Amino acid sequence: MDLRIKSFEEYKAKYKASVDNPDAFWDEIAKTFTWKKPYEKVCDYNFIKADIKWFVNGKLNITENVLDRHLEKRGDKIALLWEPNNPTEKHQEITYRKLYERVCEFSNALKAQGIKKGDRVVLYMPMVPELAIACLACARIGAIHSVVFAGFSAVAMADRINDSQAKMVITADGLNRGPKQIPLKEVVDEALKSCTTIETVIVFNCLNRNITMQAGRDLWWHNTIEGMPKVCPAEEMDSEDMLFILYTSGSTGKPKGVVHTHGGYMVYTTYTFQNVFQYEENDVYWCTADIGWITGHSYIVYGPLSSGATSVMFEGVPSFPDAGRFWQICEKHKVNQFYTAPTAIRALMACGNEHVTSANLDSLKLIGSVGEPINEEAWQWYYKEVGKEKIPVIDTWWQTENGGIMISGLGGYSPMKPTFAGYPLPGIQPCLMGQDGKEITEANQEGHLCIKYPWPSIIRTTYGDHERCILTYFTAYKNHYFTGDGAKRDENGMYRIIGRVDDVINVSGHRFGTAEIEDAINSSELVVESAVVGYPHAIKGQGIYAFVVCDKLPENNSEAEGKIIASVTKQIGKIANPEKIQFVSDLPKTRSGKIMRRILRKIAEGEVKNIGDTSTLLNPDVVEDIVKGALH
Ligand code: WTA
Repeated sequence: MDLRIKSFEEYKAKYKASVDNPDAFWDEIAKTFTWKKPYEKVCDYNFIKADIKWFVNGKLNITENVLDRHLEKRGDKIALLWEPNNPTEKHQEITYRKLYERVCEFSNALKAQGIKKGDRVVLYMPMVPELAIACLACARIGAIHSVVFAGFSAVAMADRINDSQAKMVITADGLNRGPKQIPLKEVVDEALKSCTTIETVIVFNCLNRNITMQAGRDLWWHNTIEGMPKVCPAEEMDSEDMLFILYTSGSTGKPKGVVHTHGGYMVYTTYTFQNVFQYEENDVYWCTADIGWITGHSYIVYGPLSSGATSVMFEGVPSFPDAGRFWQICEKHKVNQFYTAPTAIRALMACGNEHVTSANLDSLKLIGSVGEPINEEAWQWYYKEVGKEKIPVIDTWWQTENGGIMISGLGGYSPMKPTFAGYPLPGIQPCLMGQDGKEITEANQEGHLCIKYPWPSIIRTTYGDHERCILTYFTAYKNHYFTGDGAKRDENGMYRIIGRVDDVINVSGHRFGTAEIEDAINSSELVVESAVVGYPHAIKGQGIYAFVVCDKLPENNSEAEGKIIASVTKQIGKIANPEKIQFVSDLPKTRSGKIMRRILRKIAEGEVKNIGDTSTLLNPDVVEDIVKGALH
């Protein structure tokens, strides 16, 4: 059960073993879990067809590993420690036994509403314990959960419901976000106008708001669990049965449903949780992500709970009631491992050190970062002001498609180097590929980051469209998984992630495809066409810069901007609103009509001196105009 590596020497030995004989390496780890029927083979894969299986023919249910197996030893240990948005409200301590009962009770409620193995259930929820309970209840009965981050719009939710052909939505009347209350049920109602597959909506009463309940469709959470037994047998799942779908943006088209399965995801999230965070039995661990993103799935719910950890779940935001809230919570719950995003670190850094110094952070043993590259300044601030130069900072690189952390420090056991995620975890075989499609073996070169061999929680498919999975991840470099990121490896073999090399923008750690934002902008009646690029943003990492062509240049820029922003908010959600909108008469295009994003990116970055050759453009003159009107 304790899967931890406890020295750098041991890491090196384990790493070598994991490459020399991956099956033996993973078998050793996987057999420590509870299986209903043991697997017959560790791994079977074909990268060309994106056909990947782990723990072949094994039968299990991930929730038996997350809940049941802890009851005897850890029944009274706190599993979820929930901290409310409002600090004057009471926090909740949910023990493993209580969590087991609540999950079973809700599993029975789902069954009573006709949810069966294989059905898809969309969750659109606040960061309350019921969100984790709903995920686990789905998993327990073999239903496939698909959490949609509660900041997405009705249109975005409808797209996800329709793509996954979900039968049920679980939501709440609304959510608390700092000083504000945000409606949720109304967004669901709006989304469902364009969905036909949803039979039931379960509504958790979070705010006591007055909302409309549609008879025959909508039910209150508290009514559905009335009288339900607090035990529920865990459905027998194949290792490769789907556990969840999580939609994420790529460089083209609509967001795709990344699929993870029971067996491999369980093994990898648990193994990485224990090793990266070096969690000890009585520690309190806190990951500040939202369960709407992969980080919350893997490192609030499944990894920590499968390890029997105490996992903090926070309803609110870092800035409420003031910019000291994260540190106050660390002090209040004596947090030992703290895991957050660079964007939060930069935002809090800008608020002044007094918020950090006024809290007692002695309990911290490790602090981590995820979601985007952490710049040197933010890294140093985190290390000095939060970690007091005493504890390790771990920079963890991974992706929704990876399921779990891939490149990172192992607690305090591996060397730290600011802005470098570091070494690959055991079982992970990264490499850098050059422009010529060949592997780069020299040190200090940049290349496209690929992985040579599968790991247990690698993406299995993109829901409903396997071809897309093959094309996106397994086609650019034959027999490799392509990450979409650029990276550099130093002379010691440590990796530094540079950022996306495709048309994905990472805003505050949230992924958006440029095409997806352009579609939203173009849906405004004013707009003829648009091109969106990322630009460096001091807090968000990247900001969204939109170059927009209208029928004619708008007379009133702010009115036109308002309309464009409204379109993006409607199609995707406020989180994808562009910071900068520049109205242009035309976009730079090649003679074949392709938009030259490289040029626009340079302009957005303010690098106008290095634009490069524009003579091959169809319309070179337009570049000068765009440069003149650039927003800085
Ligand atoms: C970026 C989040 C640099 C990267 C877990 C990746 C990072 C994308 C890091 C995945 C890091 C994530 N350093 N870049 N430590 N972590 N990224 O799917 O570009 O939301 O491809 O998963 O975030 O974002 P996703």
